[in-house]
Amino acid sequence: LRAHHLDVETVRANWGEPPDLDEVERLVRRGVKCLAVIHNETSTGMTNPLKEIAKVATEHGAWVLVDAVSSIGGITLPCDAWGIDACFGASQKCLAAPPGIAPITVSKRLLDEVDPATVDGWYVNLFTWNRIRKEWGDWHPQPTTISSNIMYAFHRALQLVHEEGLENRIRRHEIVGRAYREGLAGLGYSFFTKPEYASNTVSSAKPPKGVDAPDLIARLKKDHNIFIAGTLGPMRGQGIRIGHLGTQAAKSYLETMLTALAGYSKKAGVTGAEAAVDRAVQLAAKAG
Ligand SMILES: Cc1ncc(COP(=O)(O)O)c(C=O)c1O
Repeated sequence: LRAHHLDVETVRANWGEPPDLDEVERLVRRGVKCLAVIHNETSTGMTNPLKEIAKVATEHGAWVLVDAVSSIGGITLPCDAWGIDACFGASQKCLAAPPGIAPITVSKRLLDEVDPATVDGWYVNLFTWNRIRKEWGDWHPQPTTISSNIMYAFHRALQLVHEEGLENRIRRHEIVGRAYREGLAGLGYSFFTKPEYASNTVSSAKPPKGVDAPDLIARLKKDHNIFIAGTLGPMRGQGIRIGHLGTQAAKSYLETMLTALAGYSKKAGVTGAEAAVDRAVQLAAKAG
């Protein structure tokens, strides 16, 4: 937003905690035009209470812009019902397609209220896309050449979402997310967010005493061919992040991942590691 020379005010919150709604309200009351918010915060593994945050903004006439990159297709997000004016996601996470497409939604209200003359840029400008769609729709509905192979892959990924059913897919992410949290807790891990905000698509967790996070990530890669990420920002070096979204929101991935982690927890003196993995696997089995 700053790159577009907009005046930006930030509502600060502790890492792993949602913004304070009173503070959000104070800001939007002052006539802020747009509230930009992340739905699922991937570094701490936290899902914002978006419905409540969006309500505060819409009650005071502010537009709501949402980053749904790591939630779209995996976590409930009814844009119209929650008054979200613009939302962007990504093809490569819960939708399980190759990267390269950012699906978006835009409300009619936003399109009506924005004066196209005030929008900078040509390519990343929806008014350009809308005009070209109208003018060239029958043969070339995009302003530039699109990667057709990525489009076909994305289309197929959406067919798979449709076949599974969006509700079922969200439920699968819920079950696997819960199973990961139970499993990790049983292996001596603690989380960077409270349970009520825990994300169903990514778990960010601190290993038990005696397990060094960066070392663990390197070992998982070398010894098990498992790639996971480390924590970011002020939590860098303290924890691990496991993506359990799209195709990876599945019992098989969970079992492989937690079994590998259990070995390191056991060496660090955590008891009951195998039983914790078994319980998590049984839970995840309900995801189908
Ligand atoms: C919440 C969130 N926003 C934005 C991004 C960036 O997405 P991309 O890598 O597709 O640009 C990510 C990537 O992990 C993310 O998790």
